[in-house]
Amino acid sequence: MSHNSFGHLFRITTWGESHGPALGVVVDGCPPGVPLEAAEIQADLDRRKPGGSRFVTQRRESDTVEILSGVFPDRAGRQVTTGTPISLFIRNEDQRSKDYGDIKEKFRPGHADFTYIAKYGIRDYRGGGRSSARETAARVAAGAVARKVLSHLLGNVTIRGALVQMGPHRVDRARWDWRAVSGNPFFCPDPVVAAAWEDYLDAIRKAGSSIGAVVEVVAEGIPAGLGAPIYGKLDSEIAAAMMTINAVKGVEIGAGMASAELTGEENADEIRIGNDGRPLFLSNNAGGILGGISSGQPIVCRFAVKPTSSILTPRRTIDAAGNETEVSTKGRHDPCVGIRAVPVGEAMMAIVLADQLLRHRGQVGNCGSAAPAETESGAKS
Ligand SMILES: Cc1cc2nc3c(=O)[nH]c(=O)nc-3n(C[C@H](O)[C@H](O)[C@H](O)COP(=O)(O)O)c2cc1C
Repeated sequence: MSHNSFGHLFRITTWGESHGPALGVVVDGCPPGVPLEAAEIQADLDRRKPGGSRFVTQRRESDTVEILSGVFPDRAGRQVTTGTPISLFIRNEDQRSKDYGDIKEKFRPGHADFTYIAKYGIRDYRGGGRSSARETAARVAAGAVARKVLSHLLGNVTIRGALVQMGPHRVDRARWDWRAVSGNPFFCPDPVVAAAWEDYLDAIRKAGSSIGAVVEVVAEGIPAGLGAPIYGKLDSEIAAAMMTINAVKGVEIGAGMASAELTGEENADEIRIGNDGRPLFLSNNAGGILGGISSGQPIVCRFAVKPTSSILTPRRTIDAAGNETEVSTKGRHDPCVGIRAVPVGEAMMAIVLADQLLRHRGQVGNCGSAAPAETESGAKS
């Protein structure tokens, strides 16, 4: 009933609050024999952790992960999973709870303060408590395990995310370069627009305001066959996974909302036989999913992240006693939460795919059909 778990065969349960002593995740259902080192999980956590640039919250967390259970050296001395629950532990190190005194009794418009009280009658207001995106560190840790499962069973799987829009400013897809993503503070694949975003976000940040964004996540190397009609559709599970991320208000797969403007001819991802004798899709409006089942093309998902609710500009609200008042939020906040949502989106994609792969293997007995030949238009649907 408490809904802190996600997934079926590859199942994660996260726990912890923003200003509690620690947070973490239990990953249950991971197959045995998957090589797993804390350093591999740490690499993903380091991409999400706060304090990395002036464009994200200045809260200082090392996000150092410890593997408490579920691994053991194999005969060759490599640390591998044992098939038992994997518990991952991350200590909170830089809580500053006094910043939140003002919102103890007041509800931040756009945040979860009002609804937590409406539902539970009690809330840990420090840093947003359980509604804080501190929780997403645990998902990123679990996502690193999911990536290991995918590559163990499938070989070369790539799951990458990028920020494709900040406020009204979109990337130019003609300049898309995955290598650029790690070269700027925004996970932006377009180095030209990334440079322009610096000034744009600086102005927003200095004004004590915030701005929304769009994240794109692409999974490549996923075979045909993952996902199940009717209620286990891969696209529905990806959408649900992305919607669980804090501040996400819209999700689309492939051409998504833009498909409303397409004709049948434009939308059809035509199929030929490629030079290697495998099916060759000429486009990828479907985002790699047909009938809820992966087609072997790149899986493409985008999600919209709303602007940070905690802003310095006073907003009208009410307090717990029912009085009308105003609130402006102190503390350290991301001016554009979409930036740090990029590794979180990658993690949720990995978790869904690992879970679907294990379910496919359980029902059908294999790991899916070989991927088709490259899509001509690549992942840039
Ligand atoms: C990576 C990340 C960081 C976030 N940081 C903040 C923050 O610093 N301040 C804030 O008010 N909201 C932040 N949020 C958003 C809130 O957690 C979220 O708006 C809140 O829990 C209410 O949930 P909802 O927006 O999904 O309805 C962040 C979200 C993400 C994904």
